[in-house]
Amino acid sequence: MVDSTIKILTLVSFLVLISQGYSKCSLSNLSIYQRPTGHQLKQFPEYRVDIINSCPNCVQRNVKINCPNFETVEFVDPSIFNVSGDVCLVNGGKPIVTNVNVTFNYAWSNSFILTPNSSIINC
Ligand SMILES: *[C@@H]1O[C@H](CO)[C@@H](O)[C@H](O)[C@H]1NC(C)=O
Ligand SMILES: *[C@@H]1O[C@H](CO)[C@@H](O)[C@H](O)[C@H]1NC(C)=O
Ligand SMILES: *[C@@H]1O[C@H](CO)[C@@H](O)[C@H](O)[C@H]1NC(C)=O
Ligand SMILES: *[C@@H]1O[C@H](CO)[C@@H](O)[C@H](O)[C@H]1NC(C)=O
Repeated sequence: MVDSTIKILTLVSFLVLISQGYSKCSLSNLSIYQRPTGHQLKQFPEYRVDIINSCPNCVQRNVKINCPNFETVEFVDPSIFNVSGDVCLVNGGKPIVTNVNVTFNYAWSNSFILTPNSSIINC
């Protein structure tokens, strides 16, 4: 009885591992978090942005984010976030590995809605 329970548990965890390893990721596995830092720059509130690839086994490169009307009085390193019209390139297009935040701060009178636009997923 105990033995067969262990066998079933082993099988279940094996299947879970398999399905995690092979499940496909998409743009929905790119998360963008934003929050006010509580600081001000030139009297504009500052915001912190964290971009995270949550796909367990895959990098995402050439990550682009919809950033319509984005403006900032704080310098944002273009190798992290390169504003180009309504679409911004993250990390200079280089791969974003799993669960390592790509972070930058900006400051403006309001925050901007930032949503994933596209990426290339390599597993
Ligand atoms: C990717 O995101 C989708 C939608 O949020 C989710 O259902 C799926 O589990 C995620 N994939 C992985 C491998 O985390
Ligand atoms: C990564 O981003 C998340 C969401 O903003 C945040 O909670 C977490 O502290 C960040 N981790 C690091 C190491 O900066
Ligand atoms: C940022 O984008 C401009 C074009 O909009 C390009 O000339 C420049 O090389 C890019 N910089 C980085 C670091 O990707
Ligand atoms: C990505 O950006 C292009 C150019 O702005 C736009 O036409 C397209 O609809 C965007 N795709 C997504 C998924 O937001």
